[in-house]
Amino acid sequence: MSVLPVVKYGNTILRKKVKFINPDMISDLRNLINNMFDTMYEEEGIGLAANQVGFDMNLMVIDVSHLDEYKNIEPMVFINTEILEEKGYIEIEEGCLSIPEIRASVKRAETVVVKFYDEEGNRKTQKFSGMLCRVILHELDHLNGKFFTDYLSPAKRKLVHNKLIEISKNGYPSTGVIL
Ligand code: NI
Repeated sequence: MSVLPVVKYGNTILRKKVKFINPDMISDLRNLINNMFDTMYEEEGIGLAANQVGFDMNLMVIDVSHLDEYKNIEPMVFINTEILEEKGYIEIEEGCLSIPEIRASVKRAETVVVKFYDEEGNRKTQKFSGMLCRVILHELDHLNGKFFTDYLSPAKRKLVHNKLIEISKNGYPSTGVIL
């Protein structure tokens, strides 16, 4: 088991769009994928994007099986994910391992259809809703250099501004915030 350090808000790798992975190289990712799952479980997250552990790659891991209604859903790996369709809108509170102690309600699509490769290199097109849709969209934002705090209204963003500066300096804020 290998837990990797999670990079925090303020690190430039979290603000850039990551690179797609050569599909022929997917079999080489096994170790990194296992380490990403280990890291996510250790940090008690439900999703993790590769750039959150310092890798410039379009790769994310998700496991929502601790939630009752998803207990039969296996952990999932998404490689080179592209959104084909988004529908509806729903507001859900989010947090982020790269922005500790800050939570906020964010409006995103209710369902999403994505095209991706799984960890075996199989091409898939699948529709997701509920918490899976939410986590996929949050992690995909990471891979595109975005944070959930980018969606806050100017007034709310002002409230978290100093906390985000504290996180970029110290890795954590002086106090938590829920918006
Ligand atoms: Ni996040």
